[in-house]
Amino acid sequence: MIDYDAEAADYDRTRGGEPRAAAAARAVTALFPASVRTVVDVACGTGIVTTRLAGSRRTVLGIDRTPAMLSRAATRLPGGVARADATALPLKAASVDAVVVIWLLHLLPDAAPVIAEAARVLRPGGVLITTVDKDEAPFARPGGDLAVATEPFRTRHAARRADNADRVLALAAEHGLHPAGESAFRGVGQGRTPARWLAAAEANRLKWAPPAELEAVRAALTALPEQDSPRPDPTYRLLALRARTTGR
Ligand SMILES: C[S@@+](CC[C@H](N)C(=O)[O-])C[C@H]1O[C@@H](n2cnc3c(N)ncnc32)[C@H](O)[C@@H]1O
Repeated sequence: MIDYDAEAADYDRTRGGEPRAAAAARAVTALFPASVRTVVDVACGTGIVTTRLAGSRRTVLGIDRTPAMLSRAATRLPGGVARADATALPLKAASVDAVVVIWLLHLLPDAAPVIAEAARVLRPGGVLITTVDKDEAPFARPGGDLAVATEPFRTRHAARRADNADRVLALAAEHGLHPAGESAFRGVGQGRTPARWLAAAEANRLKWAPPAELEAVRAALTALPEQDSPRPDPTYRLLALRARTTGR
């Protein structure tokens, strides 16, 4: 996983800044039932999205395990922050109306413990809102040259995607969370050039480009035209998963 302590100072600038955060927050709040008053943003990072989830009748707590990310979030979040792992939230069972998880599940070996923990802390009728299929988003445009060039590698490693939407839906159902809508947001500034994809592969930051396949990935990416032209911004998918209103 990325070292988010090292990443913190550059995080907002390199992840689309305020425009990406505003788009993400709009897509999340569109999925909130009207009754939502208490929100927990799990893996809140620098809080750049979290701060926009609060409202006149909604309080937001940010939780993250990385100190340097969390100290930035603390300056943005009057509702407070807590340092904790997503699999062990410092919250009572059935105590919050919404759990938000943006750009976390794709980083993990397994989403199951995070989904179980979200289900534990949600009140009856509460909602888990999470990104899914994050690493596939840059390749979702049909016929895009990056998508075509990298498809064999991504297909081979599809089983390693912890945030696969079908798997997330199945895990959620095991914990009594059922589909309650979906939305999407533009990853402003996240469309990368082929050269940047190659740099990410060389830094071993892509699950679908492990070292054993690096040479083949390099050949596929360097064969693409316009090496330094960013491809279109990806669109990231959010699912809303709602706890039953009675008897769990
Ligand atoms: C890609 S950032 C997303 C931050 C924020 N949600 C956003 O959209 O800007 C991933 C964040 O997850 C946090 N993280 C990674 N694994 C975690 C875990 N097991 N428990 C809590 N936070 C975690 C990292 O510290 C980092 O801040």
